[in-house]
Amino acid sequence: MTASRISHWAQQAFMLTSLLANTSDFAAVDTSRTMAPTSITSFQAQFTVAPTADVGAPLLPNIEDPNARDAQVECPGYLATHLDLKDCGFTAQLSLLGEACDVYGTDIQDLVLTVEHQAKTRLHVNIQPSHITPENGSWYILNETWVPAPQQEECLDASDLVFSWTNTPSFGFNVTRTSSQEVIFSTDGSKLIYENQFIEFVTSMDEGYNLYGLGEVIHGLRLQPGLTRTIYAADAGDPVDGNIYGSHPFYLETRYPRVQGGNTGSKDSSTSHGVYLRNAHAQEILMHDTNVTWRTLGGDIDLYFFSGPSQTEVTSQYIQQIGLPVMQQYWTLGYHQCRWGYENWSMTEEVVNNFAKFEIPLETMWNDIDYMKGYRDFDNDPIRFPYDEGKEFLDRLHAKGQHYVPIIDAAIYHPNPWNESDAYQVFNDGNETGSFMLNPDGSLYIGQVWPGFTVFPDWMTMSASKWWLQTMAAWQMKVPFDGLWIDMNEVSSFCVGSCGSKNLSQNPVHPAFKLPGEPGALVFEYPEGFNITNATEAASAQYGSSTQAAAASKTAGPSSTTTDYLRTTPIIGERNINQPPYVINHVHGDLAVHATSPNATHHNGVKEYDVHNLYGHQLLQNTYRAMTAIMPGKRPFIIGRSTFAGSGNYSGHWGGDNFSKFTYMYFSIPQALSMSLFGLPMFGVDTCGFGGNSDEELCNRWMMLSAFFPFYRNHNVLGAISQEPYVWESVMEATKVAMNIRFQLLPYMYTLFYHAHTSGDTVMRALAWEFPKDALLADADRQFLLGSAILVTPVLTQGHTTVDGVFPGLVEGTDVYYDWYNQSAMNVPKKKNTTIEAPLGHIPVYVRGGNILATQEMRMTTREARKTDWSLIVAMDKDGRANGTLYLDDGVSIEPEATKIVIMGGQVAVLADQARRNVTTLRVDVFVDGEFTDLDLPLANVTVLGVAAPPASLQVKVDKKNVTACVEYCAERQRLVISDLQQVLDGKVWRKNWSLTL
Ligand code: NOJ
Repeated sequence: MTASRISHWAQQAFMLTSLLANTSDFAAVDTSRTMAPTSITSFQAQFTVAPTADVGAPLLPNIEDPNARDAQVECPGYLATHLDLKDCGFTAQLSLLGEACDVYGTDIQDLVLTVEHQAKTRLHVNIQPSHITPENGSWYILNETWVPAPQQEECLDASDLVFSWTNTPSFGFNVTRTSSQEVIFSTDGSKLIYENQFIEFVTSMDEGYNLYGLGEVIHGLRLQPGLTRTIYAADAGDPVDGNIYGSHPFYLETRYPRVQGGNTGSKDSSTSHGVYLRNAHAQEILMHDTNVTWRTLGGDIDLYFFSGPSQTEVTSQYIQQIGLPVMQQYWTLGYHQCRWGYENWSMTEEVVNNFAKFEIPLETMWNDIDYMKGYRDFDNDPIRFPYDEGKEFLDRLHAKGQHYVPIIDAAIYHPNPWNESDAYQVFNDGNETGSFMLNPDGSLYIGQVWPGFTVFPDWMTMSASKWWLQTMAAWQMKVPFDGLWIDMNEVSSFCVGSCGSKNLSQNPVHPAFKLPGEPGALVFEYPEGFNITNATEAASAQYGSSTQAAAASKTAGPSSTTTDYLRTTPIIGERNINQPPYVINHVHGDLAVHATSPNATHHNGVKEYDVHNLYGHQLLQNTYRAMTAIMPGKRPFIIGRSTFAGSGNYSGHWGGDNFSKFTYMYFSIPQALSMSLFGLPMFGVDTCGFGGNSDEELCNRWMMLSAFFPFYRNHNVLGAISQEPYVWESVMEATKVAMNIRFQLLPYMYTLFYHAHTSGDTVMRALAWEFPKDALLADADRQFLLGSAILVTPVLTQGHTTVDGVFPGLVEGTDVYYDWYNQSAMNVPKKKNTTIEAPLGHIPVYVRGGNILATQEMRMTTREARKTDWSLIVAMDKDGRANGTLYLDDGVSIEPEATKIVIMGGQVAVLADQARRNVTTLRVDVFVDGEFTDLDLPLANVTVLGVAAPPASLQVKVDKKNVTACVEYCAERQRLVISDLQQVLDGKVWRKNWSLTL
């Protein structure tokens, strides 16, 4: 190094004193192959960012501020005039009804109200400023190219929803369901507040309302009064009730008919409706006892009401408007193994081999940021993850029918301009094409993430999309991945503001906090009850808090005990986007903490403040488009962290940084059910827990539970003990039991995805949605249904060997359930909650009567499973009937050349034979529509559940002709099994229509 270079380095180091702390204890390169890495392998950083870099202004959330101004008290509201009738609605002018209050911004004098009856089940209400210019457009209007706006469809005289309004005491409106005259939304009696940085409207609610949605938040499924939901995408490790990764300003409300003595037990169904505020700004929704107050820091009021009237209809009406969920490739429903800490290709392959050795199915192997050179996207570490070795490994993986998914982070490393060996072509290419976000002065916005100081792709320029595609295509040639895992796309940055702008000479820098597993990092906790089940280990383990999130949060904002808060007052006509006068209850406090700052600027002039919640969504859109270009015709498989309304159209989602705790295993269910409402059915969580150490009992229960989630992946934080299913023998056995069921159900799950993709149906379902009459199910979120046919009742509590669950409709006599394992009908005492035996290694699963499931068998991969014989499980309802659907295609193509829909119907009847004994006749009909033939494999057997009497004959007929088959009847289980059917139907079960009778 030359003398001048040395002095330059010294000078740069001096400039950094306020931001960076020099660390001598920083981890050196470590290529050890332990399963629980204790140090980071990828950094060569010399400097650690000072913790103060991620500290924002001391703020007190408005909802906790005793001195907060109340806009409802201070503001005048609006008056509606100039009504102008249109074909399917009307417009009106809204004018401020008195002196401006300017509580948290500048009041907008004149607004335009537009009401459109867009379809029989959808009403649109929009309120926006009457003067919108190109300069302030993004403050108020959400561009339709970013988030589609539901459009006017048919203009009907009779709509399910009507709009009415009043001017007394100020403008307010009601939305009423015509059929029942029920008001579903009413701002009547409250004031509309419309300022340039603050909008508020209030809808009255009945006491004890049932509200769902408004995410993404870790919480029970039903949202109780007293809660506040903040919508502001945050890189936050799953804090309960805090805002986390996704932004979904949609709720479903369900109302049960009131009957004497309470609101349960009605013969009538509940009614439901949905409300979507199409707005991407920071939001807060306050749930009070008798009203819901909606606040946003910008945008317009762009409300869509969906009339349902059932929960399922509401969801599908909503999802059809935001974008139907992307169809998954069949293999994505297989099992995925991941962890942060698979340090090199051989360790990664060793895991794959372990699955084979222990005969546990493994579909997809994942790599976290470990594979990167210095944590840089699209750049493999040449020592630990060289391309040639990777290709050979991936060839072997692909040959076995397995798949590979690596992580890609949102941020792009900015190389050190003073260090030639730090060159990074990916950055250069993006920089030269103007693909990165800027500071307000036009310079690059440089934040800080894993690799050091980083830039952030600007999804509002076409050049970024092009650069992303080209970069990804080039890298895919070197690493032939099958899907992508998109992380940190909130978009996360570990410092406030463009902290790298003046400090690039220090790159690569280390984040301000210790990475999990680094010397000095916090010690991992174990699950609840670990001291009981693992006394010896517990005694030697140190307890402490864990994970990057906890570590990172140490650097975040002031604690709530700080009393010296920053309060900003509005300046008329201006916006303070860095410190908005209204302080939302954001998990990181200041909007600029742990994310790019609100004043980060897009090339089109739009500020992050106005579009922050869209960053993740746009990255997913761009990744989807890039993947369709790289792998033409194939459905992209993407799992993303930050999502917005409609992201399901491009991607699936995982629940983020949960913890190895029973509590988080429980939270996975309501989180999944909420994602069903948001049109993101491809959802699963880090099975066995991300943060902290897992243990045998938790992992046993969790591997079984997640087998019934659409996305089934085990993922673990760096430094925590290993938790692959083969680590503990009992976990391995339990996993195989659950996987066996999952594999049998894969054709059913895939069919559910087809319905989700074509009609907006849900895959994982809350009990309340399938049983809309039963008000007692309004909060049920410890059990769930997969489609309408499979009821799952997991043990979610440490140390328990039984679980209490309900069988909706069973006591009432409307529904029948069959135990998956012994195939007998459930017979429960005459009370709602039933205690079910569930020792470790057993997950209670039931088939709901009335369903026919077409199943295949478990193999080590879905490719092999798709080659196995078919079977039918015909689970009769109380009237001896059942039906089902099966969707078949090639499992990969966006537009398959051929598809097939199979409709199945079954019926049993009990009659008296000549000897006056009760006997059963059976009929199963199969109707086939479509040309897809690849899965026309033999039918092995038909199992009929709920057969009260022996068959009238043992002669099986197919299409009225006798066939050779075995018939077994088990009176005790009321089960009829017809087996050895492989030869019938020419060994091709779905080739044509057929009927089987007995
Ligand atoms: C945060 C993600 O949520 C987590 O799953 C991942 O392991 C780490 N980033 C490291 O990439």
